[in-house]
Amino acid sequence: MIRLSNKKILLCITGGIAAYKTPELTRIFKKNGADVRIIMTESSKEFVAPLSLQAVSGNQIHYSLIDEEAELGMGHIELAKWADVILIAPCTAESISRLSQGRANDLMSAVILASDADLFIAPAMNVKMWGDKVTQKNVKTLKIKNVNFIGPDSGDQACGDVGEGRMSEPQDIAFAIAKSFSSSYLNGMRILITAGPTKEAIDPVRYLTNNSSGKMGYALAESAFLAGAQVDLVSGPVSINAYEGVNLHKINSADEMLEKIKTLINGIDIFIGCAAVADFKPTNYIDSKIKKTDENNMSINLTKNPDILKYASENMKDKIVIGFSAETDNIIENARLKLSKKDLDMIICNDVSDSSIGFDSDNNEVHIITKDYEKKLHKKSKIRIAKEILKNIEPLIN
Ligand code: PMT
Repeated sequence: MIRLSNKKILLCITGGIAAYKTPELTRIFKKNGADVRIIMTESSKEFVAPLSLQAVSGNQIHYSLIDEEAELGMGHIELAKWADVILIAPCTAESISRLSQGRANDLMSAVILASDADLFIAPAMNVKMWGDKVTQKNVKTLKIKNVNFIGPDSGDQACGDVGEGRMSEPQDIAFAIAKSFSSSYLNGMRILITAGPTKEAIDPVRYLTNNSSGKMGYALAESAFLAGAQVDLVSGPVSINAYEGVNLHKINSADEMLEKIKTLINGIDIFIGCAAVADFKPTNYIDSKIKKTDENNMSINLTKNPDILKYASENMKDKIVIGFSAETDNIIENARLKLSKKDLDMIICNDVSDSSIGFDSDNNEVHIITKDYEKKLHKKSKIRIAKEILKNIEPLIN
């Protein structure tokens, strides 16, 4: 099964006959939920029409490093940060050679150099070119840099030769990309994640809440599931869907969240508190709509909500408990305080004063803080941040 929902794929097309397969490849990515952006090299335009690719991807095609209009839309650095994965298909011997040298003299190579997204190459060339010692040395250099190769396949070639060098079929390429989002290092682990806001009712029509969209917590749940874990996700009201396979438990208020956590906590190996739990709730719920009066002011008494993360850390002594910290000032110092006060193994802090990250954004930028180290994860999609957070949790697992 190919599952690519919400994945951001940057497809780079270089000049080979197999480029004619890229509209089909793009169609498969799109059909399975991915967002696709495309870079075409100059020579690739001889093999496939940019307009077809624009139509099938639904996005403007990117060509040149020096293109004012494109830079104004999505500049090359932004494109590098946007991608969850970069795929070069077809990739010629010339492109493999240039990438192995770390060149950055066209849009494709510059974006790749500026990106830390996983890079996949689907080579396509003549059998002799693929077998050539220099090409193989370049492939080795790229593999050492963790570049992933899909194919090439063996068979009849467009030039009449037979052998290894054909680009893999679009379906197989899409499958390999989808598979790259899953792994098995959390096999057998049970993970409990909280996400989204809580909604604290004042009366039947009014409530206190915040701007959490659930995207960060849902991305963590998806990544943990794809890494092999059994995942329970306790979520406040949000408008996004949980990844198929994740056990979703919907709640409204902090009290309901705590009650749900109590029923799920036994046997949990890792708890991640990503929810933006309201710190306070109205002291008294008024069960009919509060009427407007002639008074200019009114006040509502608030009472502290239960601290769900603290409950988890107190009840999971020999397990891993991770919190998030949403701050606008002194973000590191405040996160450190929470780390020790709530006796956590790790805290992930984000600066919620920056509207391009944190609440309701597709991207985040966070600091991972433990008692022993601190690490910054630069701005990227929440799905990539989630993957990296989980990779940093792995060493904490005995
Ligand atoms: O949902 P998104 O739009 O994707 O946005 C993501 C996010 C900004 C909400 C997320 O990255 C984040 O920072 N979540 C934590 C928000 C928060 O409530 O931070 P806090 O610093 O107030 O709380 C610290 C920790 O205690 C958090 O793990 C929180 O879940 C937990 N907490 C807080 C209060 C409370 N009563 N119970 C809790 O468990």
